[in-house]
Amino acid sequence: MDINIIKAQIEAEIQGLDTLVKLEEFRVKYLGRKGILAQLTSTIPGLPIAERGTFGQQVNSLKSYLLSLIEEKERSFGAGPAQAIAGAVDPGMPGLAQSVGRLHPITQIMDEILGVFSRMGFSVVEGPEIETEYNNFTGLNIPLEHPSRDAFDTFYLKPLAATNKLLLRSHTSPGQIRVMKARKPPLAVVVPGRVYRPDAVDASHLFMFHQIEGFMVDENIRFSDLKGVLEVFAKSVFGQDIKMRFRPHFFPFTEPSAEVDISCIICKGKGCSVCGRKGWLEILGSGMIHPKVFAHVGYDPKKYTGFAFGLGIERIAMLKYGINDIRIFFENDVRFLEQF
Ligand code: DAH
Repeated sequence: MDINIIKAQIEAEIQGLDTLVKLEEFRVKYLGRKGILAQLTSTIPGLPIAERGTFGQQVNSLKSYLLSLIEEKERSFGAGPAQAIAGAVDPGMPGLAQSVGRLHPITQIMDEILGVFSRMGFSVVEGPEIETEYNNFTGLNIPLEHPSRDAFDTFYLKPLAATNKLLLRSHTSPGQIRVMKARKPPLAVVVPGRVYRPDAVDASHLFMFHQIEGFMVDENIRFSDLKGVLEVFAKSVFGQDIKMRFRPHFFPFTEPSAEVDISCIICKGKGCSVCGRKGWLEILGSGMIHPKVFAHVGYDPKKYTGFAFGLGIERIAMLKYGINDIRIFFENDVRFLEQF
């Protein structure tokens, strides 16, 4: 191909272009990946060695010439695309609104509750979401094959070794085992965090939710200490006029155990659809730490006593804000989240 013929052809063609679209087609025809200049370049290896250098230079200068022609043509159409934007700044246009983020409602409630307990002298300790079977069950007096394990249905991880089975913790109670093994009484600790259970998802169940475990251990800790601490908690979160009741219950890690209800915050105890006409809402499980749990962590059950409790954050948030579907917390719909 003769470079001079191509050059003449370029000059003739560009004359007739009268729109930016045509100019762009022209640019692609010559400078595109499979364009005429690329074809010229690809012939270079087939030329006699002595001619390659000169021909290469000719192609390069044709390319610069072509670029300058295109630029000139662009200018003749008025401002080029880049300049069009730069010239179009409109100082009267409203600015882009910044949307300010905030803490997730579950995090807000979590912080509020942890704040209540820290003001009573509890320290906050976090544990891992992947737990050993021992800390989640055995240490808490939930023996293997015991039917009570069904209540804490669990996601097991693929075992690395048969001796140390790992799972996603089904409650924050293993925090008791970890802290008691690592420290000595007196202890007042709250353990917040995510827990996991293979539950079918519906308006009141998710496979993941949040709990706070709390416990206090020392000489002479009594059930009345548990009641006092929980009363401060319930009144701070739900209001000073709330009533509480302790119902006997069974948990393997506490003896005696109790479920704790507050008077319904919607109907104030009269009975409504939220409390199922009972006038009471269950908010947590609690009890006096079982002597067998103390034995597992190496505490002398004759010397020490303690209480423990565990509460679900989503449930408390739902009661406090009148939310009737737990799934909405994790759908990440901004219209829901921005109300908090
Ligand atoms: N771990 C229990 C659960 O997930 C809650 C609980 C009940 C914790 C009683 C406690 C307790 O410490 O004493 O359902």
